[in-house]
Amino acid sequence: MLFRVPPSWEISENHITPEAVFFNRRRFLKSLIGAGVSTAALSLPGCQQNSGSDAPISPTAGTVSLGKLPTNPNFAEVDRPITQRDLAARYNNFYEFGGNKSIWRDAQALPTEDWKVEVTGLVKNPQTYDLDDLQRKFKSEERIYRFRCVEAWAMVVPWAGFPMRLLLEDVEPTSDAKFVRFTSFYDSKITTGPGWRPASMPWPYTEGLRIEEMANDLAFFATGIYGHTLPKQHGAPIRMVIPWKYGFKGAKSIVKIEFLKDRPATFWNTLVPSEYDFEANVNPTKPHPRWSQATERVVSTGPMLSWERVPTLPYNGYGEYVASLYGS
Ligand code: MTE
Repeated sequence: MLFRVPPSWEISENHITPEAVFFNRRRFLKSLIGAGVSTAALSLPGCQQNSGSDAPISPTAGTVSLGKLPTNPNFAEVDRPITQRDLAARYNNFYEFGGNKSIWRDAQALPTEDWKVEVTGLVKNPQTYDLDDLQRKFKSEERIYRFRCVEAWAMVVPWAGFPMRLLLEDVEPTSDAKFVRFTSFYDSKITTGPGWRPASMPWPYTEGLRIEEMANDLAFFATGIYGHTLPKQHGAPIRMVIPWKYGFKGAKSIVKIEFLKDRPATFWNTLVPSEYDFEANVNPTKPHPRWSQATERVVSTGPMLSWERVPTLPYNGYGEYVASLYGS
């Protein structure tokens, strides 16, 4: 039987994103509870923000400078300023650690020592990479990408890492491989608990791509952000970044990559297939069932309702790179 998200998941985007969440979540929660919305569901939305505004410590503590990396000239700038580093580092989703406003702090429980990424399935050269292998085999570069959440907010982020196609060349998928499943770290002792982590959810977090999508030059594995190693809340030590798709496609803290014949089940698509399709390309003409996708709020400081609202671009502005994948 398909997991049914509790009804209060269905609060609209306008309810999910008001400035009250950012600056006075407690009062906001009270008002919604008064309106009959259950507390359990308030932490469900796909891309809700979590500010941690009362946090005494830095959200980027513990990260290490990557030194001067070459910036890919094709992705050296976009038409908007880069989002402030500390703002991006407090404005996260990582539901394995819950859905509350202190998620960036809760995510510090992620154990990143001795990290390994297993690459398996329909490949000629299965691999288990550690971080040194990844660094040695795949040359890092910086790319500034737009980031568009399915819930209509957007950032601009300088990632560091390498294009996924380099890994494809290393493992050599067989001709039977048509899809790829990416699996995030999961350990029920660390990542299960109350709220957003019930055992009935389809953990671990998984995402998937068609193999041609993975081979596209834009598809990226990030091992850093803002010139530093990834903070845990951004998906340390390695995560996916697929800039022409909604943010939920970018699974964090990847431990396994499998090459498959058939399309894999994925986390959000299993939870709410009517709202989160497998392809999930950014598309201003295809509304989410509960809100329009025609425009987006640009994440910045100040009250959320005053954030600039700008038109959303097809494929998040990357049509010249990816439209041919979809016959357009
Ligand atoms: N990956 C895992 N493993 N768990 C998650 O909850 N959330 C997704 C995506 N990757 C998520 C995940 C969603 S909904 C978004 S919008 C982005 O991560 C947020 O990335 P950020 O916190 O680095 O901005």
